[in-house]
Amino acid sequence: MTQYYQAEMQARFGIDVDLGGEVEENPWLKQVLLRRTQRRYSDRPVSEALVRLLLAAAFSASSKSDFQQASAIRLEERGRRDRLAALFPDMPWIGNAPVFLVFLGDARRLEQITPHPVENGRLEGFFNATVDAALALQTCILAAETVGLGACPISVLRNHIGAVAEILALPDKVFPVAGLCLGYPAQQGFISMRLPLDATVHRDRYGDAGQGAAVEAYDRRRDTRHSIADRQRDPARFGTAEFYGWSEDKARQAMTPEGTGFAAYLKAHGFSFD
Ligand SMILES: Cc1cc2nc3c(=O)[nH]c(=O)nc-3n(C[C@H](O)[C@H](O)[C@H](O)COP(=O)(O)O)c2cc1C
Repeated sequence: MTQYYQAEMQARFGIDVDLGGEVEENPWLKQVLLRRTQRRYSDRPVSEALVRLLLAAAFSASSKSDFQQASAIRLEERGRRDRLAALFPDMPWIGNAPVFLVFLGDARRLEQITPHPVENGRLEGFFNATVDAALALQTCILAAETVGLGACPISVLRNHIGAVAEILALPDKVFPVAGLCLGYPAQQGFISMRLPLDATVHRDRYGDAGQGAAVEAYDRRRDTRHSIADRQRDPARFGTAEFYGWSEDKARQAMTPEGTGFAAYLKAHGFSFD
């Protein structure tokens, strides 16, 4: 029965994936395998009740120790949204999406729920709050996609953390993990091919001996489906590569630091990271 997922595996990985046994056909899993980020939305409004439903689904995500350290802001006030969007002119979907949410790591609430002197600014508190917010974010995305909406997480918020914190009135120990654009998609979008499971899933112990070959083959598969050769990043700095694939593109991207003020902001707003 594994052939049920072959088309989806091809779309996602560009190769057949042997599941090693029979599995049931499940339409939702197929949809997850075919999921894609959407950055352009139609004018069709998203009802208030649906947004509430998606938030309820988001906050049904697992939570480390049941500490419930995720929070979200629904940004509705036009002026405030415009001020936020103006910080990121190259991502117009931040201002255009019918719905904009911000998922927050909230290490503050735990300190406030009783008079006990909880100190939650260590790395553990930060990490747990981040993971909770990320799980809520992705649960919201999958829930939204399940009902036909498109979604785009927005982590660039952290690149202007001071201004974003001011616009959203964030107190100490509350920080954005990512925004989330939601709306009915205006176009089909495209499936971003992923590294093969051979490169990302290890058996019994970590081992990256085959990684070079796996990434090289992945680069070639991805290039065949969707070449980015004519969009080389910063050729003045890195030169023009003869073959320009995912790995070269991502390495170049990672060479330009992002979110450089984030650590200093967090340290000035309640986190010691001890
Ligand atoms: C935590 C997180 C932050 C992201 N931030 C942004 C962002 O700021 N702007 C944007 O356009 N896309 C953002 N994305 C979307 C990614 O670029 C996208 O997920 C990735 O290219 C893979 O594409 P896919 O989701 O269609 O498979 C973000 C995704 C994640 C998970």
